[in-house]
Amino acid sequence: MSFMRVLQHSKILRVLSRFYVCLCEKSEIIHRCIRFLIINTIASHYVRDPHAYWKRKGKVYYNEEKTTVLDKLRRQNLFFAKNIKRLNPRVLCEVGCGYGRLLKANALVVSSEIVGVDFSLPQLLNAKKYVGSNNVHFVLATAKALPFRNNRFDVTYTCACIMYIPPNEYLPSINEIIRVTRRFVVHDEDLEMSRHYFGYNVMNTYRKMGHKIISCTPTLDAHGCRKFVIARLDKGEQMNMVENPTDSRISDTLG
Ligand SMILES: C[S@@+](CC[C@H](N)C(=O)[O-])C[C@H]1O[C@@H](n2cnc3c(N)ncnc32)[C@H](O)[C@@H]1O
Repeated sequence: MSFMRVLQHSKILRVLSRFYVCLCEKSEIIHRCIRFLIINTIASHYVRDPHAYWKRKGKVYYNEEKTTVLDKLRRQNLFFAKNIKRLNPRVLCEVGCGYGRLLKANALVVSSEIVGVDFSLPQLLNAKKYVGSNNVHFVLATAKALPFRNNRFDVTYTCACIMYIPPNEYLPSINEIIRVTRRFVVHDEDLEMSRHYFGYNVMNTYRKMGHKIISCTPTLDAHGCRKFVIARLDKGEQMNMVENPTDSRISDTLG
């Protein structure tokens, strides 16, 4: 696009945004309607292809977070690391690790082997740079099909990942996380549905499956329905399951 074209477009955008601001000032209802339309368009676009969304978003996600919510994230990292340390894992996994801020925080307090899983390659490439620890391996995979043997991890956690998973993949993903985990699952997720993403009552899901909730607290700095949940897995006989030889290795898919 030529420079003149860009200028023309930006002029049109400026006029449109002024018009929008005028409308919003005139009527709160118009403002709400427009917001509702915009948010729903974004949401339906997301639902059509979450993977494509995160592949795109993964390229800018780290920079956006760095410049907007750094303080909040620092506090959340410390909170997470403190809680994960208490669970004393030998092998730890984060599903939906993004650019790896929590992996990095946890790697400072536990000496365990740590695995970060995400289905967005750009996020994982950023994570590999950002985390910079030999203890941490990265695996490109989706939550509903984790390439690990049963009970591979002592603790698996997610933070703001499950709430982005569409309803038809929610239970398959939770079941996969339970399958690969031996002792504790930790979630920091929205429990309620909101306009931006899906919300699930993960606490109820674990309870219904017969696992014990050992902690459920409001998440630091977040709005009311976001909770930090720790479930202790009661796997009974499953704890002695024979390992599946086909998926018994953690691979660093990024080489
Ligand atoms: C909001 S970011 C949170 C990243 C990180 N947990 C944190 O708190 O900084 C959500 C991440 O979950 C990943 N994700 C979403 N759905 C996923 C799925 N079904 N399988 C694997 N990763 C997923 C996205 O690619 C993205 O990196």
